[in-house]
Amino acid sequence: MTEPLYDAIDHYYTEFVHKELQDPYSHFNLRTNEIFRLLGKISGKQICDLASGEGYLSRMMAERGGMVTAVDISNALLQQARKISQGYSINFLVDDAQTLHSVADETFNIVVCNMALMDVPDLASVFQAVNRILKPAGKFIIALLHPCFETPFSVPETIAEVDEAENYVACRVLHYDQEGFWQSGGEGLRGKVGAYHRKLSTYLNGLLQAGFTIEEVAEPMLPETASATSFAAQWNQKIPRTLIVSSIKARTLPRK
Ligand SMILES: C[S@@+](CC[C@H](N)C(=O)[O-])C[C@H]1O[C@@H](n2cnc3c(N)ncnc32)[C@H](O)[C@@H]1O
Repeated sequence: MTEPLYDAIDHYYTEFVHKELQDPYSHFNLRTNEIFRLLGKISGKQICDLASGEGYLSRMMAERGGMVTAVDISNALLQQARKISQGYSINFLVDDAQTLHSVADETFNIVVCNMALMDVPDLASVFQAVNRILKPAGKFIIALLHPCFETPFSVPETIAEVDEAENYVACRVLHYDQEGFWQSGGEGLRGKVGAYHRKLSTYLNGLLQAGFTIEEVAEPMLPETASATSFAAQWNQKIPRTLIVSSIKARTLPRK
């Protein structure tokens, strides 16, 4: 059983999400807009927000008419989610994405896993479980820290290159080849809980091997025309911080 690491940082994580959502140029918002473009019309659809955290995406999908089930391994974060989501029609389930024992086969039209696969040790098991709970031709959207740029120990101080005026110009890519768990030790989220790094090919081939066809790949960035004064916004103009893959269940995997 995987440890619910976010139980210890439920308040920190909830505040972190709410702060990011207030900045229209944050990669949180760039990513969320792109997820909704890829979701298309969701009214009346059965949707699983897999590893939902405090549930902001669940609430946004419920506002658009989705019939949402928010699943997370962290009981503490789901308690926060329940509190914040009063008045929304959302189902909450504590479960492990690697097994999804409490979810019946072919329950959902759509599964969205937003920024959580980096927290899960066994990627193949998640893909197998999602294949099982999706209806045939169901959609599976994953959003990730971009595996090509957010590599082990890629904290901004160590990888960002700036010009004389301290404007962001480039980043160095470190340890792309080192798949596995890493922890920066810094004060940010990944300093607190660490992350599993995987190569781009591991994610894409994993989806294909798990019976999905890839429909579209997106790398949300801030347009060059936006007036980016903060360092973070300049970064979002130069490289994509996140990768989103939209895929379709093309075949049902045999049960393990
Ligand atoms: C970075 S947060 C993302 C939360 C949310 N999707 C969002 O975008 O704000 C990662 C989430 O994955 C959850 N998580 C980690 N391992 C999990 C697992 N094995 N099964 C289900 N959820 C898991 C954590 O509890 C946490 O809520």
